[in-house]
Amino acid sequence: MTNRQWVLASHPKAAADESTWRLTQAPRPKPGPGQILIRTQWLSVDPYMRGRISPSANYTKGVQIGEVMQGGGVGEVVETNHPAWKVGDIAESMDVGWQEWSVLTPDLPGASRVNKVDTAVAPAQASLSWLGMTGLTAYVGLLDIGRPRPGDTVVVSAASGAVGQIVGQIAKLAGCRVVGIAGSDDKLAWCRNIGFDATINYKTEGDMAAAVAAQCPSGVNVFFDNTGGSIHDAVLKNLAVAARVVICGRIALANNFDQEDTGLRASSRLIVTRATIQGLVVFDWWHRREEALARLAAWHRSGAIQIREDVVEGFERIPHAFIRMMAGQNFGKQLVRLEGG
Ligand SMILES: NC(=O)c1ccc[n+]([C@@H]2O[C@H](COP(=O)([O-])OP(=O)(O)OC[C@H]3O[C@@H](n4cnc5c(N)ncnc54)[C@H](OP(=O)(O)O)[C@@H]3O)[C@@H](O)[C@H]2O)c1
Repeated sequence: MTNRQWVLASHPKAAADESTWRLTQAPRPKPGPGQILIRTQWLSVDPYMRGRISPSANYTKGVQIGEVMQGGGVGEVVETNHPAWKVGDIAESMDVGWQEWSVLTPDLPGASRVNKVDTAVAPAQASLSWLGMTGLTAYVGLLDIGRPRPGDTVVVSAASGAVGQIVGQIAKLAGCRVVGIAGSDDKLAWCRNIGFDATINYKTEGDMAAAVAAQCPSGVNVFFDNTGGSIHDAVLKNLAVAARVVICGRIALANNFDQEDTGLRASSRLIVTRATIQGLVVFDWWHRREEALARLAAWHRSGAIQIREDVVEGFERIPHAFIRMMAGQNFGKQLVRLEGG
């Protein structure tokens, strides 16, 4: 039996395209001692993958040409050499990769750990979004780094996306006024539907700094930055005293991954406001996963948070799913459903 795999064909200099990966086949793998074999049912495509396909150094090792593309996924256990896992269990891991069958080692530490998915709590694919890495990012980024207080104004960019939609809803639960920034009126209408107080379309707004000022008359207390670039600059001009800036992502600059950041130097505004800026790598926060996911599940159960997914069908279309997400064509968490998912 064969295992279809997407391997990296080249390191893209700008945006990835269909030629960035190549479809290959390998024999179906066998699990070794202490390992399990899963049949992949769902894969997540995420902006961090743009860094993984760059030859530049990042916070972790990237994908080499000819290697299977890295990525989180979920699947059904079909063979097991591990006492805690049985055939039919559903496993989620960041180490699945873009392939139909994957051997996993459940006892690896940290983000490589394999998590058992309880489909009575939520559908299996939720473990790749709000009940997994994405949810943890929003939870610790907002609550631990952003530290929102009731009455604060919280601004979040890529607001309708996988992380942004959760950030905005947790900020509402924390008693904040929430302003979402995104790239289409449909996305922003949905954000207002799920409770955001105000929204800004960065693609149609001529003067972003003025738009942020208009929507945040007392300044921005917490900025959850998913994009970097000109949105970042516009919000930094509007920080309130003692603001907290969470640097979560820089998707606006992601296709120039190997270039230096350029743009506004906000040192004057940072001095005046005594603001703090902190970067986030979710893998540093894996010890908070159980707490975060338990609270997210409770909020979801009670209807306090709603989730929007965007599903692309078929193993063949994984690169397409990544490319469309990077181009902002996803509306909600971008997932790929494989056969059996
Ligand atoms: N630091 C961490 O540990 C960590 C963990 C997870 C995610 N992240 C980061 O969080 C951010 C959001 O990730 P996600 O998984 O939730 O993705 P997402 O928001 O669901 O999808 C990406 C979105 O980015 C927006 N975008 C694309 N190009 C843009 C541009 N040039 N300028 C402004 N916005 C642009 C698009 O929405 P619009 O239509 O609104 O443009 C697109 O839908 C990413 O930057 C990601 O790298 C960081």
